[in-house]
Amino acid sequence: MLPASECEHSQTMNRLKAALTSTGGLSYHYMALRYRSGLWRRFHENLNVLLCNWRHFSKEIILIGPSAGYSLSQEFLQTFEAIHIYDPDPLARWLFQRRFPRLPIHWSLNSPFFCPSTHSIQSLWRIRRQHPEAALLFCNVIGQWPLMEKVADSDIQEFVDQLHQVYTQSNWASFHDLFSGPSHWKKWSHIQQRQQVEFHSLEALKQFWKDTKGGPLTDHMTFKKFKSTNNKKHLIWPLTPRQIHIVEWAQG
Ligand SMILES: C[S@@+](CC[C@H](N)C(=O)[O-])C[C@H]1O[C@@H](n2cnc3c(N)ncnc32)[C@H](O)[C@@H]1O
Repeated sequence: MLPASECEHSQTMNRLKAALTSTGGLSYHYMALRYRSGLWRRFHENLNVLLCNWRHFSKEIILIGPSAGYSLSQEFLQTFEAIHIYDPDPLARWLFQRRFPRLPIHWSLNSPFFCPSTHSIQSLWRIRRQHPEAALLFCNVIGQWPLMEKVADSDIQEFVDQLHQVYTQSNWASFHDLFSGPSHWKKWSHIQQRQQVEFHSLEALKQFWKDTKGGPLTDHMTFKKFKSTNNKKHLIWPLTPRQIHIVEWAQG
């Protein structure tokens, strides 16, 4: 266990980061306001097909880092009798509640994950014990981990391996950034019309990126970390007209 003062400090830092950095907070809400109903729409539609087809058999769900729920549909969320949310962004909580006023939401600003990294594995066990009947969904947050703090490739691999162990059945899923970088949206729009894109190797992905004349790629350190190859899909998310994210869906 962390000493109380150290943990409080980490949680305060998490909230500050959530409010101010590019992985969430004000700039993210501004982008959502600008692009949600246009540029982001197809990505959200494709993602929600996967969410609605996810066979988890749970009446409760834990959402990690959903922000204001921009990428989640009412259709998906209303299937749950309890929704436990962990996201340190207070503005996201307010917006989520406004967007989905009738849903049974329980929000915690103290996230058990990535605070600090070394405690994330114990947090998987703890959260499983706290909500034993609930399915677990990481909402585009595992790929943000390397942007939030210094983390080794092996830490992420260990975390994902533990996730496979703690949640042995189909009751977990994650969508997360694999790679992102500057590229012109027009070069991608015809590809995004397809519901999913397959990248079987890093070379294939890099070639694809090169063909679109994209700039330097950010590696979110999640490529090939998840085992369940049958249940993995790749989606294209234009965050802005000049910033493309390749997002992976993985489920148990
Ligand atoms: C890139 S946004 C993803 C937002 C949302 N899932 C979506 O797809 O629109 C990352 C989110 O993770 C949240 N976050 C940051 N640190 C976190 C942590 N340690 N635990 C849980 N969520 C966190 C941020 O507040 C932000 O809402």
